Amino acid sequence: MGVEDDKRVAAEAAAREVADGMVVGLGTGTTVSYLIPALASRRPEVRYVATSPTTATAARRAGLNVIDFEGVERLDLAIDGADQVAASRWLVKGGGGAHTREKIVASAAARFVVIVSSNKLVDRLTPPVPLELLEFGIDATLRLIGALGPVRLRDVPRSPDGGVIADLMAPFDDPGVLADRLDSLAGVVEHGLFPPALVSDVIVGEDGRVRSGPTR
Ligand code: 5RP
Repeated sequence: MGVEDDKRVAAEAAAREVADGMVVGLGTGTTVSYLIPALASRRPEVRYVATSPTTATAARRAGLNVIDFEGVERLDLAIDGADQVAASRWLVKGGGGAHTREKIVASAAARFVVIVSSNKLVDRLTPPVPLELLEFGIDATLRLIGALGPVRLRDVPRSPDGGVIADLMAPFDDPGVLADRLDSLAGVVEHGLFPPALVSDVIVGEDGRVRSGPTR
């Protein structure tokens, strides 16, 4: 049993929380790629909102009913992976650069369930913290963020919304303080720090079995 099995069992456990009639947000990443076939094999009468074109394409190919987010005010459930899950339940997300859409979808959901392999569990979060930046005035924005520490522009395509993906490499003690600072910077569209208040449940795959993650 390895990390891939751990991702798969966590995803399969989350798929069992999906019931007919729900509107469900689908995250982005390799762990979510195990969720999609698990949902397809259950074939419930569910509508899905995708957090990235990659997820939308994979979900549609698997036969899931993917709808536009526009016109949907609330989701029943959102399921997504994470790069790091702290004991405090703060998350770092955005390894795939999809954190802006992922945070919007998670925030719209009555329940946000995080699925991870146990190697994502950490005592404390560490950099990098993914960022999405508006291209307009980006050099001025980078100067502002630079006061917090080094920033690296990622060599990846723009986000589907045209944002530039970067990583803040500065070490930090308190994710809440850093999140507030980043929230206050003009030009930062979104960052990858997700607060515990957003997280309903963490499902962890470990040694090929499911266990609960850190609790509130
Ligand atoms: C994408 C994300 C992913 O959920 C995160 O990077 C984890 O990915 P994976 O499941 O491939 O390890 O935030 O923006």
